[in-house]
Amino acid sequence: MLRVNDLHAYYGKSHVLHGVQFEVGEGEIVSLLGRNGSGRSTTAKAIMGMVSAEGSILWGGHELIGKKPFEIARLGVGYVPESRDVFPQLTVHQNLLLGQKKSRFRTRQRWSFEDMYRMFPPLKERQHTSAGVLSGGEQQMLTLCRTLMGEPGLIIIDEPTEGLAPKFVEYVGSYLNQLKESGSSVLLIEQKLTIAMGISDRVLVMGRGAIVFEGTPQALRADASVSREWLEV
Ligand SMILES: Nc1ncnc2c1ncn2[C@@H]1O[C@H](COP(=O)(O)OP(=O)(O)O)[C@@H](O)[C@H]1O
Ligand SMILES: [Mg+2]
Repeated sequence: MLRVNDLHAYYGKSHVLHGVQFEVGEGEIVSLLGRNGSGRSTTAKAIMGMVSAEGSILWGGHELIGKKPFEIARLGVGYVPESRDVFPQLTVHQNLLLGQKKSRFRTRQRWSFEDMYRMFPPLKERQHTSAGVLSGGEQQMLTLCRTLMGEPGLIIIDEPTEGLAPKFVEYVGSYLNQLKESGSSVLLIEQKLTIAMGISDRVLVMGRGAIVFEGTPQALRADASVSREWLEV
């Protein structure tokens, strides 16, 4: 369970998050929606220890505020940033290998290479290709898969379909559906509502650095004023 309480974040003197509060329960898919500049990516970066933040972020009993990004990752929080994040010189397969959780114990791995290649067939075809020459969509898929290979207890995914061709948007949709079936905890950041509304247990809407709506997708759909004020562009 992730519990964010009275979270404030800053870029230098610029105060960007103003008391953000929400939870992501075990096995829950929660979408964080909002217009560009509302503070969604900053929320993700604050959870990952990548911006200066105050308040409380509890994950499995650990306070994340003050921890370094690698410590937070080690506690099982996976993060797929807005920018694609691959090792360009390494092959697709080597990238996935690097993402794999190195456990000293023989725990059962939830996700295998085969799972990744089944979800994103283009990666299988290109498994021995350097990641640097993949298309933007393929690099996005590889980043999504590499993070999953780390067996995260929670995965935070920032605008995975942004700028992708329709075929890749479909692949991302099936990836998210697999996560849902597997009972993973997900914080999905989106601007487009289509995928988020279909898959989420709950949705949060962010505006000017605070949560301005929280409820089920149905409740959001029923409240036209929230969409008008905080979502439509
Ligand atoms: N590196 C940065 N330095 C200064 N201000 C930033 C930086 N990144 C984002 N911001 C500002 O913080 C606010 C929230 O941005 P962001 O969290 O990226 O929004 P979103 O992801 O919802 O589009 C915006 O006003 C943005 O201009
Ligand atoms: Mg963003």
